[in-house]
Amino acid sequence: MPTQLRDIWSRFAAAVYDPFLALGERRGMRERRRRLLGGARGRVLEIGAGTGLNLAHYPGELDELLLIEPVEPMARRLESRLRRSDVRGTVLRAGAEALPVPTGSIDTVVSTMVLCTVRDPEAALDEIRRVLRPGGRLLFCEHVRSDSNRLSRRQERLAGLWEAFADGCRCDQETLGMVERTLRIERLEREEWRGMPGLVRPLIVGEARST
Ligand SMILES: C[S@@+](CC[C@H](N)C(=O)[O-])C[C@H]1O[C@@H](n2cnc3c(N)ncnc32)[C@H](O)[C@@H]1O
Repeated sequence: MPTQLRDIWSRFAAAVYDPFLALGERRGMRERRRRLLGGARGRVLEIGAGTGLNLAHYPGELDELLLIEPVEPMARRLESRLRRSDVRGTVLRAGAEALPVPTGSIDTVVSTMVLCTVRDPEAALDEIRRVLRPGGRLLFCEHVRSDSNRLSRRQERLAGLWEAFADGCRCDQETLGMVERTLRIERLEREEWRGMPGLVRPLIVGEARST
């Protein structure tokens, strides 16, 4: 896609992101965010923070909250939501493949529906491991390739179309294996993203620890 067209599409995608997710948020995602982020502690770094749908769910007593977002139209919406909230946080324009924080300096990394979109998820996970202090945790909620043959075949067939529509998101990605190869999974639930198209419904939700 030519750069100018991609920029227009990214602006459009950022503008419709919240309305597109609204039904899913009401049908359980908001509550899932609240439960997951209740476990955030200390110095927290969220990758691909998008429009800031997680902001309302962070515990009040964090040491610091760093919000990473590389896509400008998303970053602007994130800053605006942050200003309107009671949350203290800093928005950094960066990709998850090169996190602008020192090694071993983070207690909790948060990733919700991001590893599907990051160009190089394995590099991003290596970075997450690098920035986590020993014993630090990744809290994740990611949509993944289905375990059912029927749905995974549909995900594969429509992956290209979905990727163009959803600004780079891959609906058939095997994210769990990548997390397992990088960190120690301590809690894992398989859930469904209700209120969203079937292609992105299978979710993995949990915690993984740096060793
Ligand atoms: C599906 S949205 C999820 C937004 C938010 N985490 C949420 O739960 O609503 C994916 C986000 O990842 C961001 N993103 C894309 N490439 C990225 C990268 N290389 N590193 C970090 N974030 C990236 C996108 O700009 C977008 O904001």
